Amino acid sequence: DMTDRRAVTDLLADHRLSAVVHTAGVLDDATVESLTPDRIDAVLAAKADAAWHLHELTTGHDLAAFVLFSSLAGVLGNAGQANYAAANAFLDALAEHRHARGLPATSLAWGLWAGSGGMAGTLSAAELERMQRGGVAPMGAEEALALFDAALAPGRPHHVAAAFDGAALRSRAEAGLLPGLLTGLAPAGPTPPSPASSPSPSPASAPGTGPEEVHALVLANVADVLGYDAPEEVDPDEEFLDLGFDSLMVVDLRNRLNGATGLHLPATLAFDFPTVAALAGHMAEELAARG
Ligand SMILES: NC(=O)c1ccc[n+]([C@@H]2O[C@H](COP(=O)([O-])OP(=O)(O)OC[C@H]3O[C@@H](n4cnc5c(N)ncnc54)[C@H](OP(=O)(O)O)[C@@H]3O)[C@@H](O)[C@H]2O)c1
Repeated sequence: DMTDRRAVTDLLADHRLSAVVHTAGVLDDATVESLTPDRIDAVLAAKADAAWHLHELTTGHDLAAFVLFSSLAGVLGNAGQANYAAANAFLDALAEHRHARGLPATSLAWGLWAGSGGMAGTLSAAELERMQRGGVAPMGAEEALALFDAALAPGRPHHVAAAFDGAALRSRAEAGLLPGLLTGLAPAGPTPPSPASSPSPSPASAPGTGPEEVHALVLANVADVLGYDAPEEVDPDEEFLDLGFDSLMVVDLRNRLNGATGLHLPATLAFDFPTVAALAGHMAEELAARG
């Protein structure tokens, strides 16, 4: 247990190390409102505490490399991963801290590894779809290992090692949803078709406020959040929870609809208005009242 300083001390007492590769990590995803101190501690400990123990307890070892497996979540943030993002941001900062002191340090902020193993294997189809819509593409082992080797070359201590889908980035940029850090990666010009990038209505293209238009807006966004190809695939009278919505998808839908209309819908909208029809009806009333 790398979070146990005594255990790490005992382990290192018996071994002379020539390199450290810290890969430990745990996930406990939750929306910010439902994070508790325990849920933050557990995720921080495996990354921040463990890496700090290794940093302090390997000072007498002649290390050629000190590699930290971090995540893109620490650089860009990721829905439902505030604790994990903070833990990885700590690793990135630790690499900078060591580098500034002339110590070996490489933090690799990995994107998404392909395949069914590891943390990526725990993602639901909806979560995977959400990441890919955001422009992050799965990366094969060969490509990831090549990036690992490249990152070990002397130079900067912090690297993003991720694959991106240009078409999805472009689509995100057009919808005004691309993080500023990635704008330079979104290719210019017409969006080539991409299975991972379904269009999402942007605030700029917000439709009118009549009941039918609002219904179409809600339906299109629900289909997009669910990863469906067309709004017609959504039953407007089926409850969001039965459609497969989880709490992050509800927040995603809420953010999209607030962005498109300027309304301030609550994060509880799927409970207050459990179907597309109910939600669209409520929104149409709110918009009419707003004038
Ligand atoms: N998979 C990806 O797409 C991806 C993307 C970005 C970053 N990363 C990072 O890459 C690393 C490896 O990811 P993975 O997908 O291989 O995850 P994984 O299969 O869940 O492996 C994580 C490992 O960390 C170990 N661990 C957790 N807490 C520990 C502790 N306190 N002391 C010692 N070991 C501990 C776990 O051991 P036990 O099983 O015994 O608990 C497990 O072997 C993680 O740091 C992750 O954040 C992965």
